[in-house]
Amino acid sequence: MKILIIDDEESMRHMLSVILKKEGYETVSFNDARRAIDALEAEEPDFILCDIRMPGMGGLEFLKALRERGEQRTVIMMSAYGTMDNAIECMKLGAYDYISKPFKTAEIVLTLKKAEEREGLRKENRRLKEEVAKDYDISNIHTSDEKMLEILAMVRKIADYSTSVLITGESGTGKELIARAIHSSGVRSGKPFVVVNCGAIPAALLESELFGHVKGAFTDAHRNKAGLFQEADGGTIFLDEIGELPMELQVKLLRVLQEGELRRVGDNKAVKVDVRIVAATLRDLKEEIKKGSFRDDLYYRLNVIEVKLPPLRSRPGDIPGLASHFIEKYGRRFGKPAKALSGEAAAALMSYNWPGNIRELENVIERAMILEETGTIRTLALPIAQGEARKEFHELSIKKAEEELEKELISRALELTGNNRTKAAQILEISHRALLYKIKSYGL
Ligand SMILES: Nc1ncnc2c1ncn2[C@@H]1O[C@H](COP(=O)(O)OP(=O)(O)OP(=O)(O)O)[C@@H](O)[C@H]1O
Ligand SMILES: [Mg+2]
Repeated sequence: MKILIIDDEESMRHMLSVILKKEGYETVSFNDARRAIDALEAEEPDFILCDIRMPGMGGLEFLKALRERGEQRTVIMMSAYGTMDNAIECMKLGAYDYISKPFKTAEIVLTLKKAEEREGLRKENRRLKEEVAKDYDISNIHTSDEKMLEILAMVRKIADYSTSVLITGESGTGKELIARAIHSSGVRSGKPFVVVNCGAIPAALLESELFGHVKGAFTDAHRNKAGLFQEADGGTIFLDEIGELPMELQVKLLRVLQEGELRRVGDNKAVKVDVRIVAATLRDLKEEIKKGSFRDDLYYRLNVIEVKLPPLRSRPGDIPGLASHFIEKYGRRFGKPAKALSGEAAAALMSYNWPGNIRELENVIERAMILEETGTIRTLALPIAQGEARKEFHELSIKKAEEELEKELISRALELTGNNRTKAAQILEISHRALLYKIKSYGL
């Protein structure tokens, strides 16, 4: 790690260089803050140690100048005239820490170690964020399926509007991916994208999580707290598993949608928010409305634009492209070269029916990239059970296929009911007589 020292006192610069070199740091010193700024790009220091009182440009001005240039580097301030005011001012201007002269060797070393640790975390955090952003970038959506391409064109078209969007689709079909793509290809992209899993937060906490609360609203409300809606202000809130939202919160969400304002728990004032709502569900909300567990007025508010994601099995043409996309992704992640797919493995991928859709495909490839030792992924590295392969039809006759399907469903219904034909007929939604006839004619 390289440390840039700025101090007008020669003896101070010398002492710091000696101490820090002994600790294994590389150092470079300046007696003038302005010259240090000019040298920043060439020197590329990891940390800066800067005196506050100096002739010419002082420490506070130095911090301001760094800020104006958008510099994010970690700066630790030093001063012999250590008043609290200076310290606070420094921190406000973005300094990481503050030490008063004279300081002990251990003190400065400890401060630097702490800064190093934070720097490590910051880098890791940035890396993870970039990785997530990359995963969910619209350019990363791989498809050549006509329906999916239409959806992507629609995403681009609606991105700049604040209209609510409802994304439906089976598990793992890319609902969150599309939600993020809507956010990141529109004018809100610089603002927060906040994810709420409506099914994962206990119902009792959900209201305060979403809308916030004021101090004293309930026993544990020790101070005011902004909710996720306020956190997402100016951006997008992604309400995942919206079908799980309890009835009473459906009413409150409807009010936010209608009035553009919300009420924190325990507050009688309304707060304005500007949030785009993108909701997702794998349930059939129309069914939920019939059952009385979802409000139809909320449904129509959310469903201004509906994006229906097709299951992977309905677009097998996308499977090879997605597979190689994931092979590359995990190759990169694991530091391994990309692998080929054997013909047999490719055929297995194509004929499987993917109940877990793209997420399942991704998991299968991730696993194969770990387990497969050769340069080619063979069928054996895929955890797809034989029996789960897509049913093979030997002819394309719909009549014959229907018969097969009927036989299969009747057998299952009989198995399930312990051969109780009356119950089986109910499950199959056919008459008792029709069932008896079919059992006989199929020789079951
Ligand atoms: N068309 C695609 N191209 C590339 N990657 C995709 C595509 N669709 C989905 N993925 C990837 O598949 C994984 C699952 O997608 P996502 O999390 O968006 O699904 P989901 O519908 O929200 O799933 P769940 O219902 O289980 O929450 C993610 O890693 C995503 O990046
Ligand atoms: Mg999801």
